[in-house]
Amino acid sequence: LDNGLGRTPPMGWNSWNHFQCSINEKLIRETANSMVSTGLSSLGYKYINIDDCWGESNRDSQGNLVPKVSTFPSGIKSLADYVHGKGLKLGIYSDAGTQTCSKTMPGSLGHEEQDANTFASWGVDYLKYDNCNNQNANLKGRYKNMSRALLKSGRSIFFSLCEWGQEDPATWAGSVGNSWRTTGDIEDSWDSMTSRADLNDIWASYAGPGGWNDPDMLEVGNGGMTIEEYRSHFSIWALAKVPILQLQNFCFFFLNIDKKSMKPVQAPLLIGCDVRFMSNETLAILSNSEVIAVNQDELGVQGKKVKSNSNLEVWAGPLSGGKVAVVLWNRGSSQASITVDFADIGLNSSSVVGARDLWKVAYIMYNNFLFFFLSHQHSTTSAKGKLTATTASHASKMYVLTPK
Ligand code: DGJ
Repeated sequence: LDNGLGRTPPMGWNSWNHFQCSINEKLIRETANSMVSTGLSSLGYKYINIDDCWGESNRDSQGNLVPKVSTFPSGIKSLADYVHGKGLKLGIYSDAGTQTCSKTMPGSLGHEEQDANTFASWGVDYLKYDNCNNQNANLKGRYKNMSRALLKSGRSIFFSLCEWGQEDPATWAGSVGNSWRTTGDIEDSWDSMTSRADLNDIWASYAGPGGWNDPDMLEVGNGGMTIEEYRSHFSIWALAKVPILQLQNFCFFFLNIDKKSMKPVQAPLLIGCDVRFMSNETLAILSNSEVIAVNQDELGVQGKKVKSNSNLEVWAGPLSGGKVAVVLWNRGSSQASITVDFADIGLNSSSVVGARDLWKVAYIMYNNFLFFFLSHQHSTTSAKGKLTATTASHASKMYVLTPK
């Protein structure tokens, strides 16, 4: 959508998968604080997105949506001001139906302009627009109406279509929204993640600055996959230039680091966080700045699967400055060596490149705390014509190749 937003995929946090309807303004404020104090916001995680259940069950006498008084007593405007004061952006949620999916609040069907104006007046920066209780009204029409209303609202609002891939949104949503779901909901499992990667891959040619395919949120750290599988998950989501937005569980980030002394101080854990997921490896995955840089590369071309041979896959895509990002992904059940031929990824078959391994991570221990995101250590080697790496089952190797 040509509204100046989403020139690279959005990054941030969303309340749904971890907190569901148990949200309130204190949680949102504390999340904003932690995004800054942990350094995550400077890595690019800017959006703090409130999902379903933020509103009263009925509109007011003028037909306006009303923030739930018991959980958001200060209102959304004051929350937006707070979040903006931290250099972050606030997202909100509505539904292209008569009620949201939780059925705890009204949807925006038939109230598109009024609600878009309300969101704009509150200073909202992002709208996730769900698809429940839609009365079987025309799908494209419902999303186009909200898109138009947002454009008319006078505020730049990122528009995220959450219609679960119905009617192949990649083929028409480029002029309607800034991202569109290409799949149904992801689950925290290897099968779910790999199938979403493949379903999303079909639509690669439709993505670009201003409009991105969305295979649903990251499950990194939620417990259903191994560390290697999560690393593959994050690598492919980054390479495919999809939103790395709905991080479900920021618990492991609620460690404060004093920027001056570089010593960790323990910050309060958020209510409801499950400390089982405070894993060091998870933190290392989500804060790998060079993998993030692939996702955020200004060229904005979605990387895709270029070769697959008995579950040994090569995914690749161009980056700005003539570089190429590559993921060698072993989806088989035993360790194997995977080779990428440069001719398959748009490079000359005799070219010499610097190959930077993005997953060499150094861990620094300090007072029993581990620092990863301060200390990623990557290595660069030289390769001619092809590159081969041994990869464990379900693991991947990720490189940025720079022609010499
Ligand atoms: C369905 C969406 O796919 C989820 O991401 C979440 O927004 C829920 N609805 C909220 O009810």
